[in-house]
Amino acid sequence: MNFKYPFSAIGHHLEDEVFDILKDANKTMKTYTQGYYQEKFEKEFSEKFQLPFTLAISNAASGLDLIANDLEIKSGDEIICPAHTYCASAYPFLKSGASIVWCDIDPKTWLPSKDHYLSKVTKNTKAIIVVHLYGVPSDVYEIYSELRSRNIKIIEDCAQAIGAKYDNKPVGFFSDYSVFSFQSHKNISTLGEGGMISVGNSESYEKIKKQRHNGHTKYLIHEDKYWKPAMSDVRKIYNEIYPSNYCMNEFQSIVGSYLINKVDKIIKNRESKWKLASDFFKNNEKILMQDIPHKSSSSFHLLPLRINVINSNIDQIFKDMCTNGIQCAKQYQPLYRYHLFDNDSKDLEDKKLLPNTDLFYDQMISLPFHENLVKDDLKYILQTLLNVVNNIK
Ligand SMILES: Cc1ncc(COP(=O)(O)O)c(C=O)c1O
Repeated sequence: MNFKYPFSAIGHHLEDEVFDILKDANKTMKTYTQGYYQEKFEKEFSEKFQLPFTLAISNAASGLDLIANDLEIKSGDEIICPAHTYCASAYPFLKSGASIVWCDIDPKTWLPSKDHYLSKVTKNTKAIIVVHLYGVPSDVYEIYSELRSRNIKIIEDCAQAIGAKYDNKPVGFFSDYSVFSFQSHKNISTLGEGGMISVGNSESYEKIKKQRHNGHTKYLIHEDKYWKPAMSDVRKIYNEIYPSNYCMNEFQSIVGSYLINKVDKIIKNRESKWKLASDFFKNNEKILMQDIPHKSSSSFHLLPLRINVINSNIDQIFKDMCTNGIQCAKQYQPLYRYHLFDNDSKDLEDKKLLPNTDLFYDQMISLPFHENLVKDDLKYILQTLLNVVNNIK
């Protein structure tokens, strides 16, 4: 189908000048990976978002793999994760052998609240995954100290939330680990893929750093002959985990540094459009925007809406939007309906486990929302949705 308003796979179109910067850098670069620009980007990211230990990586999913390894998960360990999120929030922990415990969401913020997390904590809880979905942090911060006193680690999936804040502090600031994504659709992208991990303590940081790049460690025996063998030793990490390669390359890092300086402006642009939509649907009882919790500020990554109509009509709404040239998306199928997370059930499409999660998925629609979308086009999209919903019987 050819849409006049596609959902768009690009969140921010790269400026032409970026390619001039890359061309210039190419003349003097000493390596294309693991070099000066990666360190520079990490330092700038740390400073901007007040995160002491950061590591640039190939994407957020691999960052969550690294974090899952660092947790040293044992059989029986439980990880609490919202079922309403993207699959990569959860599957790295499944791969590491944890049991995933799904938690529900609040019907207005569409995020788990502190009580949703607390209701799932048991003596086996190893960590919670806090996902700032659509770019919005929830009130779960208020229970971090309680969770820590129970030896539970806090992992923030900030893939969609660069620049978002809670109580005036950047997301990731209060957590044990956090991960950001620079995939193509995100508010900023390092050439289509990319990510950043932040780690709350120096010991985990050093371990994860080794794991990021093939397990290389300083060779202890032949220090006087550094070239023997190939400049470093290679080991398993924590004597258990095989190393991998999750590096970001130097060109991506240059783009990351460039975009860090633009990110505030990018978020402001998105915010003004998000507010336009919020004003447009103010007092509308059928079309509801996400509530942004008190003390939270969003990165305004997406424009999801909840359509308060009988569920069977939602497909008709998608079809009518298509007829008008507007490509909408349905995010996110409750993760327990995927075969990856439920081997046993054959027909998972209607599996119901968590009431707010199931209802929200039935009623949600995500509109095209990216930086280059101009306000007049957005107004057309909003007006079309209003007409379509009002015409539903
Ligand atoms: C909430 C969430 N977590 C994790 C990821 C994974 O990010 P990446 O594509 O960088 O691996 C995404 C990406 O879409 C996401 O939206």
